Amino acid sequence: MTEPELPDTGFHRLRVARVVAETPDACSLELEVPEDLADKFHHKSGQFLTLRIPSDRTGSVGRCYSLCSAPCEDGPLKVAVKRVRDGYGSNWLCDNAAEGMALEVLPPAGVFTPKSLDTDLLLLAGGSGITPIMSILKSVLAEGTGRLTLLYANRDERSVIFADELTELAAQHPDRLTVVHWLESVQGLPSVSQLAALAAPWAGRETFICGPSEFMAAASAALSELDVNRKRVHLERFVSLSRNPFEVEDTVDASAESTQDNDEAPTRLDVELDGERHSFAWPRQRKLLDFLLEKGLDAPYSCREGACSACACRITSGEVKMLNNEVLEPVDLDEGIVLACQSVPVTDDVSVSYE
Ligand code: FES
Repeated sequence: MTEPELPDTGFHRLRVARVVAETPDACSLELEVPEDLADKFHHKSGQFLTLRIPSDRTGSVGRCYSLCSAPCEDGPLKVAVKRVRDGYGSNWLCDNAAEGMALEVLPPAGVFTPKSLDTDLLLLAGGSGITPIMSILKSVLAEGTGRLTLLYANRDERSVIFADELTELAAQHPDRLTVVHWLESVQGLPSVSQLAALAAPWAGRETFICGPSEFMAAASAALSELDVNRKRVHLERFVSLSRNPFEVEDTVDASAESTQDNDEAPTRLDVELDGERHSFAWPRQRKLLDFLLEKGLDAPYSCREGACSACACRITSGEVKMLNNEVLEPVDLDEGIVLACQSVPVTDDVSVSYE
């Protein structure tokens, strides 16, 4: 039976089809997407879902989990969740998620995605950072021609998520996939120079990094040591949302009110969203996402604070200014990607496309 779509806030109920214990402290959840939501939940490799986790204190909290399933795979969407000390969302899911349970979920979002599956890539993952990397890796192997090197760091052998699947994929694609494991229990925490030495043979490739913050900092520093162009490096940071994206908010904020006193003519805005074009007069001090939601458009979002990239869209002409950006990298900005939740107009005409 198809669950009715919940009103207004853009989230949907997906049924948990299966919970798989991946390691002693990580599980993956398979989420069934009903036929009528298939388009909405179509995703690119490397994207994430925002899940609503019940909370006694606040009613619910939003948490983002990367998809480890590849878009080309038939079957349910799959996210992997690893327990984090004091991590409310991950611990709740590992303790409570069960087959048959319905979870409230926002559609896939994020810009940690390769532009081409035919490009050779260097992939660096630490712990549960393997999740979006796995999705990218499987997509490239199944649908592209790119060659892949994965440097994968974990605490010990028991904590390696997807160990068997990676072994199988490496055996199936010996010329295209190289997996290099790093175990802290054997080799200690990887230092910057050790990571640089490991990455050096593949340092010219476009690179995707995901993992705990210390790992990402060391991996980024290693690539800098190798003089890798930052514009070829994609980083995916895990974020804990401080606002609840599931609350319907009054989108009229202080900046909107001040617009009423602002004599400047509004910007002419063209938006392409879900295959439809819209034109609006966009008040100069209004954030793009707030404005589009107010206009009744189904624009994607999650954190609304510049930290997750769920609201990412492309500026195809004109210019905007972002008030906060904690997630987009130079490589994204160069492609005209901006965060709608943080963008205000700069030029008289702006065109925006959601792909
Ligand atoms: S909604 Fe998270 S960055 Fe805009």
